[in-house]
Amino acid sequence: MPTIPQISFSSAKPPKKGVVAVMCGQDGTLPESVVELAAGAAVQKAIAASEFKGGFGKTLTVHVPEGSELDRVIVIGMGNIADLSEYSWLKLGGTTFAALNGAAKAAIMLQQPEGADPVGPEQAADFAMGLQLAAYRFDHYKTKSDAKSKEKAARISVHLKSATRANKAWENAQGVAGGVMLARDLVNEPPNVLNPVEFAKRAGQLKKLGCDVEILDEKAMEKLKMGALLGVSRGSRNPARMAIIQWKGGKPKDKPVAFVGKGVTFDTGGISLKPPSGMEDMKGDMGGAAAVTGLMHALASRKAKANVVGIIALVENMPDGDAQRPGDIVTSMSGQTIEIINTDAEGRLVLADALWHCNKKFKPKFMVNLATLTGAILVALGNHHAGLFSNDDELSEQLSGAGEVTEERVWRLPVSATYDKLIDSKFADMKNSGGRYAGSITAAQFLKRFVGDTPWAHLDVAGTAMGSPQTEINKSWASGFGVRLLDRLVADHYED
Ligand code: BES
Ligand code: MN
Ligand code: ZN
Repeated sequence: MPTIPQISFSSAKPPKKGVVAVMCGQDGTLPESVVELAAGAAVQKAIAASEFKGGFGKTLTVHVPEGSELDRVIVIGMGNIADLSEYSWLKLGGTTFAALNGAAKAAIMLQQPEGADPVGPEQAADFAMGLQLAAYRFDHYKTKSDAKSKEKAARISVHLKSATRANKAWENAQGVAGGVMLARDLVNEPPNVLNPVEFAKRAGQLKKLGCDVEILDEKAMEKLKMGALLGVSRGSRNPARMAIIQWKGGKPKDKPVAFVGKGVTFDTGGISLKPPSGMEDMKGDMGGAAAVTGLMHALASRKAKANVVGIIALVENMPDGDAQRPGDIVTSMSGQTIEIINTDAEGRLVLADALWHCNKKFKPKFMVNLATLTGAILVALGNHHAGLFSNDDELSEQLSGAGEVTEERVWRLPVSATYDKLIDSKFADMKNSGGRYAGSITAAQFLKRFVGDTPWAHLDVAGTAMGSPQTEINKSWASGFGVRLLDRLVADHYED
């Protein structure tokens, strides 16, 4: 597990020693309590004498002269307070963590400059989430201590007026942050450690939070006739698993909402082998399943008032004497037959059976699936938006809205009958690749054939789950994309 800072809120005045961070308004205005610090005059002078003008996300470190027990005062620019969005508070938390520069103990005065409203509990909780997510590192396979992260601010106290309410809000936000970090851990883990069986075991740990977890082994999946998923798994010595995670926080009779994740723990491409360069990144081909697992962790931790199903389909795609071939025809659980054109288009095969099973067993209000499905989505959208494909305008708008608030953004692309034609097969009901053009769309068309009339959305997270740009709140290869987005979707639209 990563080392993360311990964050607590307090209404007491911060200690007048050690490292203290303070907030600063646009024109360099400070809260009165800062001016009253023993070093207040030195800080004011430093601000006046520097380029620092309190702009959003800018910081100034003042080393306090002799005569004060303070070591450093770190001034954090908030910019124009009226412009601060929810996500701004996460960013400020991340910026503050970076500016603490590895201090083992620090106090943060979370007070806005004179005249502005006091910081509210939700804002404080978002700030703390930003701190914690920024602190996340995945370095437990490094055995030399000097290669390990030095930035391990161990104990951080956040001082503000509404500490009691902030602590309550933080309980929930901490659950969400925990879900994001769990998703990051799963994606960062090497593929020799995190195979389908190990992943399923980790999903089983959600029982501790009150989830029901059922694990299907290959025998159970054979019984359910999941021929598409099992075809992918044939080439691997590591047997496939499907984990069905349920959180029952809503009214007993309420239909659940459902999330389904692609969990290819390693994707070599199979017989249609990928080129070697960059293949190591394919340990992250379970980013969809990681997000679903992290989401369930978040929802259960904050005891969301909703019934939620999370299904993760776990396989490894390997070349082998027993692997499936291009030309093979497999029968999916739905009964529809699929001609394998390219064994590297394996994610859709795995999801076909997972979506079908989910729909049949739970009759959910909607299904959202997440998958690192196509390289083509990187060509279309880069790392800044996930691709969104859907048969339902309302669900799409809810997802886009949640994306704006959390800054885990999605961009809708089309699905239609003309694109659907591209995956018709000469020999079977469909083929698993529609060729190079519109590669992300034809992948979505494939999935759409397994969701019936249920409102459904597919998020192609190949560009956002891993290797995405470093931000104030993510310094890790794996971003945990999707956890905050979908937690927000549930919170805003599907809780009693
Ligand atoms: N896992 C890959 C997609 C991927 C690419 C994820 C880059 C993350 C980064 C997927 O299984 C795949 O190989 N897709 C093929 C589909 C093609 C064979 C129709 C692709 O995108 O090339
Ligand atoms: Mn593939
Ligand atoms: Zn894949």
